[in-house]
This record gives sequence, structure tokens and C-alpha cells, in this order.
Amino acid sequence: IQALTQLFLLLTGEAAVGKSSLVLRFVNNDFQENKEPTIGAAFLTQKCRLEDKVIKFEIWDTAGQERFHSLAPMYYRNAQAAVVVYDVTKAASLDKAKSWVKELQRQANPNIVIALAGNKIDLVQPAEESEEDPAENGREGGREGGRQVPTEEAKAYALEAGLLFFETSAKNGDGVRDIFVEIGTQ
Ligand code: GTP
Ligand code: MG
Repeated sequence: IQALTQLFLLLTGEAAVGKSSLVLRFVNNDFQENKEPTIGAAFLTQKCRLEDKVIKFEIWDTAGQERFHSLAPMYYRNAQAAVVVYDVTKAASLDKAKSWVKELQRQANPNIVIALAGNKIDLVQPAEESEEDPAENGREGGREGGRQVPTEEAKAYALEAGLLFFETSAKNGDGVRDIFVEIGTQ
């Protein structure tokens, strides 16, 4: 018989950074190119085996649109962990992530484990597939700006603020499971 541990986790961050996509990748190993914005929040669960334990993640995937901000305390009040997500191609989304971290550190459970996740790294990786598929370049919005948040800058901030740090792609799955495994381990 294995111990089953429940872990309440919250995802937050600016609209369209890919919170729901990270959850969809973790829970269903799937990705949608045009995922609709979350309204309010979505609740999902996923079990995950860690060495001798099974962790049941109870996940609140909150809406990033500003009009839903006032709902947030309802979701972070009981959270044991939070994943604060930004988009590596959008510098302003890291500022927003920092303000979420401040809010969580002031108002959420004092023992909350917070992870910072820089998502959409597939848009800034030297992609071999861009040579095979030139149609993907040019018109595609994400590529033209490239990376706006250097890894070292975000990592230094995470260290200073006491956060776990990851770079992820919900699109190709890079780093996604690591977030949950690391939080579960902590
Ligand atoms: P809200 O619910 O409005 O707060 O947005 P969200 O943070 O949940 O973002 P969502 O997951 O809906 O993703 C927004 C858009 O970005 C969608 O069109 C996704 O397909 C796209 N997207 C999400 N993650 C990635 C990624 O890792 N790489 C790329 N290239 N696109 C992504
Ligand atoms: Mg969403």
C-alpha cells in the first residue's frame, strides 16, 4: 500500500502565458495551438508517482485576465504550492509574475512553495524543424520578437526571491513534468 498525498497547487500569471497549456500537457500530455482563455478558474487533478509516494495534485488553473484578479485569494488561500508563469518572449509578463510572487508571499500560506516557470521556450530555441518547415517562420508572431527574458536574469530573480525556477514548453513538453516532480519532492 502506498501513501497518497494530496497537494493543492495554484497556477497564476499574466493572460496567455500558457498556464492552461502547461496543465493540459501535464494532465493529458496534449497541446492546443489556439487554447481559449480561462474564465474564472479551472480545476483539474493528476496523480504522479514519486519514488515511494503517489502525489495527487489538485490543481487550480486560474484566469490571467485582469478582470479576474479579485478572485485569486479564493484560490491561493489553501494552496500548498504555486506555479507562477511568464512568457520568455514577453518581458512584461515577468514583471507581472514578480507582482504575483509578492502577493503570494504576503498573503498566501507562509509555507507555500513557489515555482517560477518561463514558458514558450520552443519559440526561442534554435529549432531544427524551422529548416525543414520554412512555412513556420515569417508569419508566426512568436518568433519575430525572440527571447525577451534572458534565462540568467530570471534565474537570479528566482534565487533572490526563494523560488524554484524552470523554463518550459507546453508545446513540446520540455521541463513541464520537472515542475511538478520538484514541487512534489519539496
Ligand atoms: P489565460 O487563461 O487567459 O490566463 O491564459 P493561459 O495562461 O492559460 O494561456 P493558454 O494556455 O490559454 O495559452 C495561450 C496561447 O499560447 C495558446 O494559443 C497556446 O496554444 C499558446 N501556448 C501556450 N504554451 C505555449 C508554448 O509552450 N509554446 C508555444 N509556442 N505556444 C504556447
Ligand atoms: Mg488559462
